[in-house]
Amino acid sequence: MDYHNAFMPTNKVLIDAVRGGTFDDFLLRPQYSVLERRDPTAIDLSCQFSEHITLKRPLVSANMDTVTRAPMAIVQAEEGGLGIIDRGFKAGDISPQVREVEKVKRTQHLIIRDPYAVAPSTPLSEAIEEMRRRRMGTLVVVDGNRRLKGLLTERDVRFVAQDQATVAERMTPIDKLVVGEGELSTDAAQQLMIERKVKKLPLVDRDGTLVGLITAKDIGRQERLPFATRDAHGRLRVGAAIGAKGDYLERAAELIRAGVDVIVIDIAHGHSVVMERAIAAFRSRFNDFELVAGNVGTPDGVGFLSERGVNGIKIGIGPGGGCTTRITTSFGVPQVEALVECRQAAEGPRHVPLIADGGIRRHGAIFEALIFGGDAVMLGSMFAGTEETPGDIVQKAVVLPDAQRTVKVPFKVLRGMASIQAIRDRLDVEDADTLDIEALGAEGTEVSVPARGSVRPIIQDILRHLCSSVSYSGANSLAEIKQMFRDDPFRYLIKLSASARRESYER
Ligand code: XMP
Repeated sequence: MDYHNAFMPTNKVLIDAVRGGTFDDFLLRPQYSVLERRDPTAIDLSCQFSEHITLKRPLVSANMDTVTRAPMAIVQAEEGGLGIIDRGFKAGDISPQVREVEKVKRTQHLIIRDPYAVAPSTPLSEAIEEMRRRRMGTLVVVDGNRRLKGLLTERDVRFVAQDQATVAERMTPIDKLVVGEGELSTDAAQQLMIERKVKKLPLVDRDGTLVGLITAKDIGRQERLPFATRDAHGRLRVGAAIGAKGDYLERAAELIRAGVDVIVIDIAHGHSVVMERAIAAFRSRFNDFELVAGNVGTPDGVGFLSERGVNGIKIGIGPGGGCTTRITTSFGVPQVEALVECRQAAEGPRHVPLIADGGIRRHGAIFEALIFGGDAVMLGSMFAGTEETPGDIVQKAVVLPDAQRTVKVPFKVLRGMASIQAIRDRLDVEDADTLDIEALGAEGTEVSVPARGSVRPIIQDILRHLCSSVSYSGANSLAEIKQMFRDDPFRYLIKLSASARRESYER
């Protein structure tokens, strides 16, 4: 099917209006506001990330090795979005990526299904080492048949001579524990824990076999983070990226085993024979496991992926901050044009959610990405340099022009996943010549960005601005403005002259 031509007539005028345009080429005409307050806790910003994953906030952190590992993915999910763990680990070395997924899935369980456990006969020194290594304050004690025998907490092992002691000698034995039977709801667990004044509640089935552990800390977190993105077991959700060649199926198998919620097949050009093969192989091995694929930037690309049954599609060829694809190949589509055209292609019989990926450098552009066609937005540069990004802080000398002196400023690195530096790390070719790697065709660059604090206030700022945009638009919610824009885009759309662009976005 020719998606480009099939969808052109329906919204040809809009497509013509946005052709060649990206975020800074437009302003949106303000409308009568119906909102009393611009409050992210009151305005519904929910969206579909993919067919079966809903987010209460439409933000996703990019699968880049200088942006999303477990610390970033945890904050994103706690704040109602999602983090996608990058695939920038060495080929064949799957476990580091799996560990990042495990860290997120273990952060916030209501019921911890497989709590770290030891046997009663384990030497105390080994149990203490296990607690230290796992950074866990509690170990569940079980026998060889996984029957609950007790709990060992940090307090039980404090100031104890470890030499000869075993876990059995220091643990709180089962007859002194409060234990829940079977699956308990949050309310029932909380009530029991308050009544019996305990902070840990192991759960067992009828034969006394351990089925899980509930902690007061996790219940508290659930209440403090009402927007968090969680799975059916109360665990934070997380995604992980894989490639389309090499170890990608093995990697997917391990990630799925670790509890990942969605796999993203992420390659520079997703409308390709390589992607076609990868999706077919993925589907035949993992059936209908939630799968997002990308990147594409055309209606034909969207049609191609949606016909192959993916559950979400990433849109963006070359707009990314760390990206040089357009410079090195002269291929790409301006992001607003891509989003408008791709949205129309995605409106077929199967509505496949689209993720607007890349090119967002100011908060207002997030709102544009969402009304022009994205269901969610993926951000890389906007989160760069924050505490939660991987990588060390380096101090760089910066000249202060006015004072004519230099000061040391902390920086972190942001690099495109197709930059020479990222390729070098993935391929394990530390000693290779830069020129050899350049022959692979780098399409990304590395930049230093000032180190800043946590990403959490940045997300909260973005959400407040998003609510202000909803307010200016005259809608009550994100879903409503998306529909209002679809019904009458020209009520909003103002194409800017060069001087209006300067007036609007140059400061
Ligand atoms: P922003 O603008 O938010 O974009 O930093 C993040 C997105 O940029 C893409 N990306 C790349 N694209 N070469 C590319 O062509 C690269 O090296 C590269 N690294 C990241 C990616 O889609 C990411 O989500």
